[in-house]
Amino acid sequence: MSRITELNIDDIKDSDLLKGFDFDNYDDGDRERWKGLLGGVLESQDGVACNSYAKGMEILGDQFSDLPNLSELNGMLEKNTGWRVMAVNGLLPCEDFYKLLSRKIFPSATFVRDWHSQAFTGYPDIFHDVVGHLPLFFDKKFSDFVSKSSAVIYQILTKTPNGTALKEQLIQNFSRYGWFTWEAGLIRENGIAKAYGGAILSSSGETNNLKERGYDKFDLLEVFNQPYTDKEFSARYFIIDSYDDLFASLEAIKTQYGVTDSIN
Ligand SMILES: [Fe+2]
Repeated sequence: MSRITELNIDDIKDSDLLKGFDFDNYDDGDRERWKGLLGGVLESQDGVACNSYAKGMEILGDQFSDLPNLSELNGMLEKNTGWRVMAVNGLLPCEDFYKLLSRKIFPSATFVRDWHSQAFTGYPDIFHDVVGHLPLFFDKKFSDFVSKSSAVIYQILTKTPNGTALKEQLIQNFSRYGWFTWEAGLIRENGIAKAYGGAILSSSGETNNLKERGYDKFDLLEVFNQPYTDKEFSARYFIIDSYDDLFASLEAIKTQYGVTDSIN
């Protein structure tokens, strides 16, 4: 996977978001794998997906019955949520990733994972990105958390000098924070653990792993200290009582790192 080095986010225009994306480039094999993935995941999500994800899927479900055209998807997403997808194939520099999210631009891969990776994908593909994450963006509270936390993290990272041990530590802490919330996060609904994390909701293998491993109460310090790797299923899962817990953790981060700006 190549690293993207030139991305001037301040100058991104609407027409840049899907530059290089051509829906007609998908072939029958891509469509077949998409349908195979969707069938497996819809089954594994049953009883696992949280309410806000299920509501988003009611709106987006038709878009996902076949490989989605990102251009159509963007129209619908922007009208309903204010978010837009940017087609990105490659690894974004970490600060750019948070900056895009702070501006309600969601970077999505465009390739469909191969047959060997049906239950799990180390590199996120379009299935993970759009099916795993976008339905949650219809919940304004959750999507506000993504944009606001990204704005805070971006501020903290940019004021920390590159090449320092502190910077490496911060990058690690915040990638764990992202992993154990919007990728592998659980939320309690009527006393039952449900998933809001996109890595769970886009992977039948991750869902099965969750059922075997169980979960712990969300705790920011524990999350910062809990390693993960995107090469295997999550070693742990953390549960929140509501999205308010995420905002409380964000306030704790702002206090810890001296972010005083009001980010509303
Ligand atoms: Fe993801």
